[in-house]
Amino acid sequence: MSTTDLNNKVVVLTGATSGLGKATALRIATRGALIVVAGRRQQQGEAVAAAAIAAGAKDALFVQTDITSENDVAALFQKTKDKFGGVDAVFVNAGVFKQDKLFDFTKPFDGLDTLVDVNVKGTTNVARYGVAALQERGSNGAIILTSSIVSAVPAGGLDAAGPDMGPYAATKAYVDTLARIIAAVPNVRTYTVSPSVYLTEMTEGLGLEMLRGMSGMFHSVLKGVPGKPEELAATVEAIIDGTTKWAPGSLIAAEGPFTYDGNLRYQQIYDQKSRGQASVTLSLDDIKDFAGRPAGLTARKVEDLVAAASAEATSTKSPGA
Ligand SMILES: NC(=O)c1ccc[n+]([C@@H]2O[C@H](COP(=O)([O-])OP(=O)(O)OC[C@H]3O[C@@H](n4cnc5c(N)ncnc54)[C@H](OP(=O)(O)O)[C@@H]3O)[C@@H](O)[C@H]2O)c1
Repeated sequence: MSTTDLNNKVVVLTGATSGLGKATALRIATRGALIVVAGRRQQQGEAVAAAAIAAGAKDALFVQTDITSENDVAALFQKTKDKFGGVDAVFVNAGVFKQDKLFDFTKPFDGLDTLVDVNVKGTTNVARYGVAALQERGSNGAIILTSSIVSAVPAGGLDAAGPDMGPYAATKAYVDTLARIIAAVPNVRTYTVSPSVYLTEMTEGLGLEMLRGMSGMFHSVLKGVPGKPEELAATVEAIIDGTTKWAPGSLIAAEGPFTYDGNLRYQQIYDQKSRGQASVTLSLDDIKDFAGRPAGLTARKVEDLVAAASAEATSTKSPGA
């Protein structure tokens, strides 16, 4: 049971036209929040805003926003203030994924500009205006930045994974660092969520086999099983409503319905023994539930969960497969 009412809380979500942002918008809508959906795609954004109202949001607004434009981001927060009076939480979630081999000189190396424009500059735009809006409101609101588990893989891990994610991973490491800096801002609760592998538009093109291979590598519990957007949404909801056990400033690695301290991954990067390994070794006690409470896992429970989730994932046809 949540302790903080989301009734009339104003929540701005970027990247809410699809995937993790959309799932989060629809989940917190059921708690009576005021939802601001941001993204470039008008039809999808308006549909999410309408679905949020149908799900229970007090009201919802779509603001067409390209986060690479500072003017657009400034207008997003101004329009939110004009309509709803201020901002109580910001999900800084929009991002792009591009694959580029760092050392393949036979093909154009052309993904980096977009990665930097969106994941670095765009995220910074939203974080700057988002923090300013939260401070102006003065409600000890939350800002949650979406990173990626790949920002913290040991040396060689991404090459071993095969999908050429080095430049993407580096832009997400920027997000981790930006969040650490923002965490020093008073009266704002800053969190980073670092998803592993979830089934969204971003990952669907990779196909189920690739996704299962990646989740086998990056997951510490549910090996080979991609997560569902609703599971990540539950972690973000618990941050926004203040029920999370994770402290402000946390880097929360999220794997399906489970979470763990993302800094454990960084610790292992600097452990020479982990060279080439993408996965981290966690004790079962390190694994928490979506809200940071002990998950109470045993080896037997993990086996059962993996078997059940694998059966479900296999029966779900991957759109990209
Ligand atoms: N799915 C995973 O396994 C996974 C794993 C680790 C991290 N992540 C991160 O999770 C976040 C959400 O991704 P997702 O998986 O939900 O994928 P998605 O469904 O493709 O969502 C990406 C969102 O970002 C928005 N976006 C992209 N460029 C934008 C721009 N220039 N301006 C405004 N919005 C923009 C898109 O909206 P428009 O196209 O409408 O603009 C879309 O709503 C991303 O930051 C991603 O890097 C995902």
